[in-house]
Amino acid sequence: MTKLTHLHGELTVPGDKSISHRSIMLGSIADGTTEVTGFLEGADCLSSIACFQKMGIEIENQVKQQKVVIHGKGLHGLAGPDGVLDVGNSGTTTRLMSGILAAQPFSCTLDGDDSIRRRPMKRIMEPLSQMGASFSCLGKEQCAPFTISGGSLRGIRYDSPVASAQVKSAILLAGLYADGPTTVTEPALSRNHTELMLRAFGASLHTEHTTVTVHPASKLTGQRILVPGDISSAAYFLAAGLLAPGSEITVKNVGINPTRDGFLTVCRQMGADLQLDNLHEETGEPVADLTVRTSSLHGCTIEGSLIPRLIDEIPIIAVMAALADGTTVIRDAQELKVKESNRIDLMVKNLSAMGADITATEDGMIIHGGSPLHGASIDSARDHRIAMSFTIAAGLADGETVISDRDCTAISYPSFYEDLRSLI
Ligand code: S3P
Repeated sequence: MTKLTHLHGELTVPGDKSISHRSIMLGSIADGTTEVTGFLEGADCLSSIACFQKMGIEIENQVKQQKVVIHGKGLHGLAGPDGVLDVGNSGTTTRLMSGILAAQPFSCTLDGDDSIRRRPMKRIMEPLSQMGASFSCLGKEQCAPFTISGGSLRGIRYDSPVASAQVKSAILLAGLYADGPTTVTEPALSRNHTELMLRAFGASLHTEHTTVTVHPASKLTGQRILVPGDISSAAYFLAAGLLAPGSEITVKNVGINPTRDGFLTVCRQMGADLQLDNLHEETGEPVADLTVRTSSLHGCTIEGSLIPRLIDEIPIIAVMAALADGTTVIRDAQELKVKESNRIDLMVKNLSAMGADITATEDGMIIHGGSPLHGASIDSARDHRIAMSFTIAAGLADGETVISDRDCTAISYPSFYEDLRSLI
């Protein structure tokens, strides 16, 4: 890995992963055509495309034009698939699609890779069962692979024990098909892309603080969607620009939805020189160009309702904290244990190997920053966000670092290494 220093330039990161998944799902169950520009061609979103194609939806992926065209068949147009729906590594595909499958007049089986088979599915099985769907697990209890049998659904009021957009979205999507309103309350506000997109497609939703109600829909209407750059992907370059000496970089056209912009809040809390320009909206989502300049960062506390707003950025924040002055405390982040890997354990193990002073806690980590990092052998556990975070850490460390399975970045960011090289 080339040393990261004097990074300069402008780049655009690929489209938002959450919005890309949702565009395929809503486009498939809408009437008419949905045209998606800036779709993320990451392996996770391709899993969503493949699953809906298997259920009879025609989806044209025009990669060169960065466009996906979905020929929706309406709320009741999906066909029972031949064989298993392969969700790959994607929790979003598994959980959101289950919300739609809960209402279908057929049964089907979902399965994915080793990581997906370990991830908790009880969180969607419980509310979707209350609505009337049934599940049977074929392997480990409350995990994939599982068979979901759909049917008529009733509207429910659900108090979610976790602030999870995947759980909330699964219930809202099922709620489109229920016999009455469906209400979800979450302990803290998670990303609201499903709510925004459902409204754009014509569904009726009502939101109050952390509670959202969806009304049964008679139809959704296909839309044109412009997907903004993914703030979770931009975060790696913003962190590199802040930490590498003599740098100034701009990431253009990044989605800064307030339910996703916790990384920017933390940058400011840590003393970052961060500038937002060209603020505008694209398909109801706020977007901006983000510029950072090398800054001397200091530690901070990250907790409470801030956590769901930056949950996927905690690995790269931990790298920033290790190189910042002072102590950073991350708490209320127990969800990190059930992501693509146990991200608390992996961050602690790998950052410790590079010489950082970091301790795991029950719900997060404590990092005493400020000492230089040195090269080490890094276990990515095939977790894309761990591999990208440690690529940045490696470029800021002395000596050589080897990262296992570095190609797993293709899950969310196929051109990550190329884009990073363009700034050097
Ligand atoms: C996502 C929600 C988050 C996030 C994941 C994508 C989504 O998961 O970590 O990468 O698109 O809804 P949870 O809902 O499990 O918090």
